Amino acid sequence: MPFERAERLKKLPPYLFLETDRKKRELLRQGKDVINLGVGDPDLPTPAFIADALKAALSESNVNRYPLDNGSEEFRSAIARWYARRGAPGLDPSSEIYPLVGSKEGIAHLPLAMVNPGEVVLIPDPGYPPMRSGTLFAGAIPYLLPLRRERGFLPDLEAIDPQVLKLARVLWLNYPNNPTGAVATREFYEQAVAFARRHGLLVCHDAAYSEMYYDQRPASFFSVEGAKEVGVEFHSLSKTYSMCGWRVGWVAGHADVVAALGALKSNLDSGVFMAIQRAGAIALDRGDAEIDALRAIYRRRRDVFCGGLARAGLDVQPPPATFYVWTPVPAGMTSLAFCTLLLEKAHVVVTPGHGFGAPGEGFFRVSLTTSEDRLAQAVERIRGVL
Ligand SMILES: Cc1ncc(COP(=O)(O)O)c(C=O)c1O
Repeated sequence: MPFERAERLKKLPPYLFLETDRKKRELLRQGKDVINLGVGDPDLPTPAFIADALKAALSESNVNRYPLDNGSEEFRSAIARWYARRGAPGLDPSSEIYPLVGSKEGIAHLPLAMVNPGEVVLIPDPGYPPMRSGTLFAGAIPYLLPLRRERGFLPDLEAIDPQVLKLARVLWLNYPNNPTGAVATREFYEQAVAFARRHGLLVCHDAAYSEMYYDQRPASFFSVEGAKEVGVEFHSLSKTYSMCGWRVGWVAGHADVVAALGALKSNLDSGVFMAIQRAGAIALDRGDAEIDALRAIYRRRRDVFCGGLARAGLDVQPPPATFYVWTPVPAGMTSLAFCTLLLEKAHVVVTPGHGFGAPGEGFFRVSLTTSEDRLAQAVERIRGVL
């Protein structure tokens, strides 16, 4: 007997890459050497001191029990200290910080906690898909803010339709940005905070890549005056410490929002495994030097890859942050045509920009989550088919 999916699931944008996935699987089945630059899942291992902290925590008593919904005091305090070292002191670990089972779940659940059906959520486009799907699941309306290269991939807040603003509850931001690699300036955050105050908006800042920068530390949302009064920040240990599979992150900021998301979550999950929270606290307290080393590895990868693409004649701009390279496809081609060419003729997997939203058409995204040698090999193969 066939079963229909619920209407809310049918509202999701269609998955665009079925055919590309099939081709990739076929090449792998034929034993071809496929270089996968498609997914943003760090290849580097979790630093040993964090894995050791987890192993040690496993033998402690009571870690097998249900975690407290709002997480361990130890983890929340380590998060507050981590922010204080980054120019945002004074977050209260008991009311302004809440652990998440990876930041994705918090991002997707936020609208269920804060937005009513029929209200509007302002979402960057191209952008991280759960911002949009979470909005649709809550019966709310996504209003997409195009991110364009000529504006440094920052949304034009003043261009938002005033009628839409009347219904808008949430403004999503994500810097350093996936997929464009762009960073926001301090002035932009100041403008966003003032705009949110003027229009009664909650700013939700996704800062999953805040530590993945190359030369200069990007401006931080919470270091801007008044940010915590209008916003929350979503954070993750996934990218910074190569811990994607551990599923641990947090939300921090406005106490009302933290409490609302916590109340929702206490009906959905039962928190993050206590041993992971313990290791997470140690990662945050002792990991700053280790992240410097990871950054140096990604910087070399970026330079090898972007240097090679530039020599091949592509209009590549090395990203200031994130491990993504967002580049226009050669003139006269669509994103899909170019990415299909790379897959079929060079056996290199990259992601077509329109998969992240319509303004991403004309771009492709590469993830630097593979070794320098493999990236150099990928560049050679790409040059060979241009
Ligand atoms: C922009 C952005 N935010 C959040 C996440 C979620 O990371 P996690 O759920 O592993 O914390 C990702 C993961 O790819 C991302 O790209």
